[in-house]
Amino acid sequence: MKRAIDIAMLPAIPEHIRVAVLEVTTRLKGTPGALLPILHGVQDALGYVPEEATPLIAREMNLSRADVHGVISFYHYFRQQPAGRHVIQLCRAESCQAMGAVALEQHVKRRLAVDFHQTTSDGAYTLEPVYCLGNCACSPAMMVDGELKGRMTPERFDAWLEAEST
Ligand code: FES
Repeated sequence: MKRAIDIAMLPAIPEHIRVAVLEVTTRLKGTPGALLPILHGVQDALGYVPEEATPLIAREMNLSRADVHGVISFYHYFRQQPAGRHVIQLCRAESCQAMGAVALEQHVKRRLAVDFHQTTSDGAYTLEPVYCLGNCACSPAMMVDGELKGRMTPERFDAWLEAEST
């Protein structure tokens, strides 16, 4: 009965988000430090952590909405909007910076006409920063949809983008 009242008190939430969040929270909420794995699980399931999911996650974890929102916004890894069809992650950590990552980042942003955490107007690419991809020996490093690319340069990026678009 109490659970029915709790659900009624939650703001409206699309069914596919409700189902995904409940599957992840039911599976993981018993583990220590469960909030981060749950947020990862929701992002894995939906591609991002929708704002509408926050009240339900908070209720399932016995936390305040502000607590959950604080964690989501602290970790840049968590997307709050759906991603584009491809996710490009550029490494901004030390080794890559020493090997030209700053110039690469400026070039990629200009070329795609987006900043970090934005998606190109055609919905094709979302650009995200990362802090070491474990590929320092091949700096500067980039990852596209989980595939590592090393020794990236503005020229190599353009060539890759060209090949992707044809
Ligand atoms: S610093 Fe960029 S991959 Fe390690």
